[in-house]
Amino acid sequence: TRYLVPRDTTAIAVGANGVADAVRTALAARGDEATLVRNGSRGAFWLEPLLEIERDGQRVGFGPVDAAEVPEILAMDVARWPRHSRYLGKLEEHPWFAGQTRLTFARAGLDDPLCLESYLARHGFDGLEHALHLPPEDIVDEITRSGLRGRGGAAFPAGIKWQTVLEAPGSEKYIACNADEGDSGTFADRLLMEADPYQLIEGMIIAGLAVGAQQGYIYLRSEYPHTWEVLHTAIGKAEAAGYLGDNIGETDHCFHLELRQGAGAYICGEETAMLESLEGRRGVVRAKPPLPAIQGLFGKPTVVNNVLTLAAAATVMADGAEAYAALGQGRSRGTLTLQLAGNVRQGGLVEIPYGVTLREVLDCYAGGTRSGRPMRAIQVGGPLGAYLHESLWDTPLDYEAFAAAGGMLGHGGVVVFDDTVDMARQARFAMAFCAEESCGKCTPCRLGSVRGTEVIDKIIARDSVAANLSLLEDLCDTMEMGSLCAMGGMTPQPVRSALTYFPEDFA
Ligand code: NAI
Ligand code: SF4
Repeated sequence: TRYLVPRDTTAIAVGANGVADAVRTALAARGDEATLVRNGSRGAFWLEPLLEIERDGQRVGFGPVDAAEVPEILAMDVARWPRHSRYLGKLEEHPWFAGQTRLTFARAGLDDPLCLESYLARHGFDGLEHALHLPPEDIVDEITRSGLRGRGGAAFPAGIKWQTVLEAPGSEKYIACNADEGDSGTFADRLLMEADPYQLIEGMIIAGLAVGAQQGYIYLRSEYPHTWEVLHTAIGKAEAAGYLGDNIGETDHCFHLELRQGAGAYICGEETAMLESLEGRRGVVRAKPPLPAIQGLFGKPTVVNNVLTLAAAATVMADGAEAYAALGQGRSRGTLTLQLAGNVRQGGLVEIPYGVTLREVLDCYAGGTRSGRPMRAIQVGGPLGAYLHESLWDTPLDYEAFAAAGGMLGHGGVVVFDDTVDMARQARFAMAFCAEESCGKCTPCRLGSVRGTEVIDKIIARDSVAANLSLLEDLCDTMEMGSLCAMGGMTPQPVRSALTYFPEDFA
């Protein structure tokens, strides 16, 4: 018998360590030598802490479990399990999982994330095995044909980026993984790194083979200490097993990987600020061009990709470009990982093909608001994303459709607000967030965000509302047109969406 309790940050935050301790104590008390496995999370955070029991080839879940309930569950006769209030049955058959298409998160939560044997048994390193015997051009071609686009938010075609780095002159090139996941309501990068770290490592090695880079860095945000531990151990184990370092898989290829920690600045998720930080300087945005693909880390051609993009590259190389491209709609191919957060009853990670509507996702997975009140606004795409009014919830989840509706999918964060939300205060929050996180390099963002906060404060105080609304529109135009990066350039998006769709809150 195996008992599985996740070691994921969110699971720990809601009591998973207490549940694991209770399992250990109960097993010791009856001299049971069954194994306790600390797996990764499957991403159904509303069911955490989850306790899974694997026995005689069957695996069922109980959740959310309180540590006090553990002795009773462990002592129960198998036949009586289904009558327990926390019994969930086989999780693959649970409605919350059954409708998902898990590619990137196919292994998440199934086993100890650091167990290499388990990774290999579940098709791990199949993509690398394939890539090791291909010329770089063919790897890039596979990624291009898959239609994979950057999952950090901007959705730039990964194949074109890799092609640019491959063609850039010079023998010193880098792979920089952006794991500075800063968007509000997002946790997919963290979940992947904690539940399936070897997939990211595999994707980075493949990227290295594709563009001729022999060194990679993972830039991890400081707020993820558990992730650091998992990645640090996973890198060590991958090195010891010959997947990292010199002569990978007994070939002439080599790839070295290092972990670097940020210091809590949102702007270090912007690729050029991240490169500055990796080089040991303050995280200030660089002007583009030159693109990092031409002149990136230490001035050398660099692939900067998000965690999920690199992980998906491993899937593409394992399953083939056609299988990946068969999912999705329009130019958005493959699967989208949405992160349901905010005022929802059933928060967690949902992986589905692009093209489903936001309303379908909410109906199937969110389970309504936690407060029990009607939903009023949904912010998709992080703090720079638009607040979507109900009239836009039937928009298909694809990059182009969302942009046409005035929103952005970004990194897939979905933050739900009920009808008690004050949208003028949310608009103020957007400006205040920008003022707090601005790197200070350009004036429209550095000063505009401070002035924007002040102007919205005046509107909230009903001070010359018409004049201040007009001033706010002007300011949004200036920030959009004059800012150097997306931080200042996109902050007007949530502000404008609040003004357009919820004008009554500014009246
Ligand atoms: P961008 O559109 O300027 O660039 C996208 C990527 O494509 C960059 O890596 C860029 O270097 C690359 N690129 C562009 N043209 C290229 C070419 N011809 N050849 C090779 N590479 C090329 O967007 P940016 O400013 O990098 O990102 C903005 C996005 O970041 C927003 O849409 C937002 O969704 C997202 N974001 C994500 C956050 C997160 O926590 N994941 C936080 C904040 C913003
Ligand atoms: Fe820095 Fe803001 Fe300008 Fe971006 S827009 S470069 S964050 S000041």
